[in-house]
Amino acid sequence: MPGDKSISHRALLLGAIAEGQTEVEGFLAGEDCLHTLSALRALGVSVDNTDDTTVRIEGVGLRGLAKPAAALDLGNSGTGMRLLTGLLCGQQFDSTLTGDESLSSRPMQRIIEPLSMMGAGIDNDDGKPPLAIHGARELVGIHYTLPVASAQVKSAILLAGLYARGETAVIEPVVTRDHTERMLKSMGANIFGDSGQIRIQASGQLNATTIKVPGDLSSAAFLILAALIAKDAELLITNVGVNPTRTGVIEILREMGGDISIENPQLVGEEPVADIRVKSSVLHGIAVDPSLVSLAIDEFPVLFVAAANAVGSTRFTGIGELRVKESDRISAMAGGLRRMGIKIDESENGAEIHYGEPSGATVDSHGDHRVAMSFVVAATIADSAVRVRDIDAVDTSFPGFSDLMSSLGVSLSREQSKQT
Ligand code: S3P
Repeated sequence: MPGDKSISHRALLLGAIAEGQTEVEGFLAGEDCLHTLSALRALGVSVDNTDDTTVRIEGVGLRGLAKPAAALDLGNSGTGMRLLTGLLCGQQFDSTLTGDESLSSRPMQRIIEPLSMMGAGIDNDDGKPPLAIHGARELVGIHYTLPVASAQVKSAILLAGLYARGETAVIEPVVTRDHTERMLKSMGANIFGDSGQIRIQASGQLNATTIKVPGDLSSAAFLILAALIAKDAELLITNVGVNPTRTGVIEILREMGGDISIENPQLVGEEPVADIRVKSSVLHGIAVDPSLVSLAIDEFPVLFVAAANAVGSTRFTGIGELRVKESDRISAMAGGLRRMGIKIDESENGAEIHYGEPSGATVDSHGDHRVAMSFVVAATIADSAVRVRDIDAVDTSFPGFSDLMSSLGVSLSREQSKQT
């Protein structure tokens, strides 16, 4: 599997402000992380990535970033923009963050509000990018309860907390991925807490370390489902991150009847890693427990496909956040699957998907990597060819996806039009 996107971003950002050289193994050289890497170079950090998956970062220390000459372009990456904003609020210089069309329409008020409470100054376009961050502000710690379950918001606050006077506490009523907390701890930050409350205090320095990035479970999810719905398939996916704040997809698919086993579990650095064995299974519809939503937040596009293949009907509730991801993922998935003949009832915060046999169709990824890959998985069981428009979006998180699917026996071809 390609490296974990969330952990690769954090390795870059924390490596940049650590003391000494951080070596990152298994780095994800997808477009999102490469945008963050370029932004750090523009902030004066020397980053060597001659080998795609090994990256060496010469940390400049908490106060060593330099004013960038131009606006920093984070491309499609919400993680890059939100985490970097938290970091840049604590610097002595002004900076501006921009993104592509999708990122420019995503909500930023969720970070602007808590960071402003800490004393940051962030000009914005009605809660949307571009974000113009004023430097040389004195930040103070806050105690903040997250109104939306978001690891990006939590992480932005914790990164600003590294520069704030006093203690910063984030209270999360719903658990979200905890990679930032684990990595900060491993680098020596003053970070404490459990059961939904994380506290951080400014520390003198972060210490560089070696970071082994596990394979991305969010990417593995496409292969897991492809194997589950294939006939007589057995697939072993090695070295995948199985941090319990990320494994909702495994729980949900198992509840639907999926034969998925975790083998060889171990702790690699701060992160739980394992091999995942998947065997063809007959899936059945369920009502997904809303408490699993934040633990599977990026896997819902492919879970829509699982649901379409599950006997009976499957109900998702409490998934409104999907509407503000790289695309409106409820509408994008429902639209494409309907074109393939699947019946879906959609509401503002949920969807009910009925079993059906997908037929060939032309569907649109809406420029969203996970939507594009989900349609490819649906295509593996369609009765005729599926054309996925704007397939290049997959490079955001899964370079090599097409080759990997081909090696598993899926017939994929690229049409002449650049958009298909
Ligand atoms: C991420 C957190 C999630 C997820 C995104 C990556 C992260 O976003 O959807 O792909 O790396 O922190 P939210 O925290 O906004 O839900």
